[in-house]
Amino acid sequence: MKAPRRYDAGMRAIRYHEIGGPDVLRMEEVSDPTAGPGQVRIRVKAAGVNFADTERRRGLYDAAAPLPRILGSEAAGVVDQVGAGVDSRWIGKRVVALALQSYAELATTSVDELLELPEHVSFEEAAGLLVQGLTAWHLLFTSAQVRKGDRVLIHAAAGGVGLLAIQLAKTLGAVVLGTVSSEEKAALAREAGADEVFVYGGAESVSDWVKQVTGGSGVELVLDSVGASTWASSLESLAPFGHLVAYGNASGPPPALEVEALYAKSLKVSAYWLRTPHPAALQRQAREALGQALADGRLRVKLGLVVGLEEATRAHQQLESRATVGKVVLRVA
Ligand SMILES: NC(=O)c1ccc[n+]([C@@H]2O[C@H](COP(=O)([O-])OP(=O)(O)OC[C@H]3O[C@@H](n4cnc5c(N)ncnc54)[C@H](OP(=O)(O)O)[C@@H]3O)[C@@H](O)[C@H]2O)c1
Repeated sequence: MKAPRRYDAGMRAIRYHEIGGPDVLRMEEVSDPTAGPGQVRIRVKAAGVNFADTERRRGLYDAAAPLPRILGSEAAGVVDQVGAGVDSRWIGKRVVALALQSYAELATTSVDELLELPEHVSFEEAAGLLVQGLTAWHLLFTSAQVRKGDRVLIHAAAGGVGLLAIQLAKTLGAVVLGTVSSEEKAALAREAGADEVFVYGGAESVSDWVKQVTGGSGVELVLDSVGASTWASSLESLAPFGHLVAYGNASGPPPALEVEALYAKSLKVSAYWLRTPHPAALQRQAREALGQALADGRLRVKLGLVVGLEEATRAHQQLESRATVGKVVLRVA
């Protein structure tokens, strides 16, 4: 799969030419991108892998994007070029940023997306901060405003978003309940701060378990990224006036929402998407809060699988088969 590096004209990147399984990902040599006005170019050291990348590859997300296409949505590395209007002092800085097409040796992004990294934060850890961290942050601070003592149920609790959401919810004083599919994942969720963890597979339903650990009342907030297979139990697990935030469909889309079903407990259902245009100041606040928390050790990125860029297919296979914990990262030489 390894394509030879041609330093004069091209870079190595992971592209797909058709929609399909992990095997459609190919290491190829393509032209170097150039930083446009207001942009920088990053020499990528580590690219974050996200569940959405697998959905894009399967055609469930961004289906109209022309192919072939380089995958990716975030990169950590060193700025090596600035476009018109960008301060040249960015060159040489260690940074992380949301950057599309980051499964590559070089990626471009707006200078406004950059977060400078201190020396002691590794590129791999940084590559796990933004897509999943911003999502977790906005779920807890923007979509919901979690308060001390609130009970929060987090599905896929040992996943990338899940482990970060647990840590952030604990800083707000929440009581965190998580669901996971294995004992190994349960241990990681507890290590991240979860107070109670449900492991799928037993006779008890998630909602009965939630009732039991909350003394019958249910939770104030559910963060649901699993969709089809968790939707009904998420609604059943809510306390009166509770809030379900939907933000993913790992098991498939949930059933159509029946507003009638919300009346009995006066429930609220909302959705969150990181690509919704966010107020710039709010996004800066979230990015800087996450960067600061990572730098001073209050927030940890659990690196579950770190493989070379040429192993993108394996990274996708592992992520889609629920075999990963925490963050999946592609290391770029
Ligand atoms: N709305 C947004 O802007 C946004 C942004 C980022 C991520 N997301 C969504 O958030 C979710 C988590 O993303 P992530 O990148 O951090 O992934 P992840 O949580 O590390 O991996 C997905 C996890 O989902 C759980 N899962 C449950 N049913 C599954 C199924 N049928 N197939 C595969 N996985 C299943 C698995 O955990 P268990 O085995 O423990 O159940 C799996 O490990 C994804 O649904 C993603 O699309 C949304």
